Amino acid sequence: MSEFTTVDLRVHAPTATLTIDRAEKLNALNAKTLEELNAALDEVERDDAVRALVVTGAGEKAFVAGADIAELRDNDVTTARAFAERGQKTFARLERFPKPIIAAVNGYALGGGCELASACHIRYASETARFGQPEIKLGVIPGYGGTRRLARLVGKGRALEMMLSGETIDAEEALRIGLVNRVVPLAELAEEAEKAARLFASKPKHALEFAISAVNAAEDADLDEAYKKEASFFAMCFGYPDCEEGIAAFLEKRSPNFE
Ligand code: COA
Repeated sequence: MSEFTTVDLRVHAPTATLTIDRAEKLNALNAKTLEELNAALDEVERDDAVRALVVTGAGEKAFVAGADIAELRDNDVTTARAFAERGQKTFARLERFPKPIIAAVNGYALGGGCELASACHIRYASETARFGQPEIKLGVIPGYGGTRRLARLVGKGRALEMMLSGETIDAEEALRIGLVNRVVPLAELAEEAEKAARLFASKPKHALEFAISAVNAAEDADLDEAYKKEASFFAMCFGYPDCEEGIAAFLEKRSPNFE
């Protein structure tokens, strides 16, 4: 059994459940979480008995409330690019994972959390879920592939509306714009996601993998260029005082005073 501290992997073949497990910080993704998320994906990929995966968040309040803002603060223009690239790599791996991945969004899916959900193949949300890309309130932009992935999922106009306003939307609106596949009561979310995972798991392994690859291939032509641009712009944000102010304001629990 693996000794993870920020994620929890439960294998119940033919499916497994991976829980982002930092409930006290609303499951915000820090470097350790990303590292363990990758290690857990290694295990799931290696285990032939596991045919589909559910990703969710610990507790009842949040799926994932974003990248860890306390860690974000330590970045400058140079390190921020590596910060974005690390997340992009992990989330691209989820998107291209050979086994179906269902996000069971059980609360806030903000910033990196919305990007994490978007990187999964299918999204089920609880009625209590909320989605958003609030990075702009910190003086930054999404940096884990969200600029491209969200636009592909819900269209450029809606994606930009979310990114430029930083406002959140509820589960019903997420369903209406195609960000999620289904909305269910919170108490039924885990069961419904598991049911879907078992349905996918019952299908031929090679066909699951080929379907995911084929759908991705149609979109992937200009992907790596798009990721490079996103990481560059994300990093450039750290050269502006508003970024330092936005992050400091969140951590000091006050409103930002932008220039
Ligand atoms: N990174 C680091 N810590 C975070 C976090 C994040 N993205 N989101 C929440 N937390 C922490 C809070 O700092 C707080 O920690 P504390 O108890 O040590 O003070 C704890 O999680 C609970 O969050 P809190 O803000 O008190 O809960 P709330 O119910 O008042 O508000 C949110 C919930 C989700 C609206 C609010 O936490 C929020 O806006 N989070 C940031 C979302 C964001 O900007 N994400 C994008 C990051 S790039």
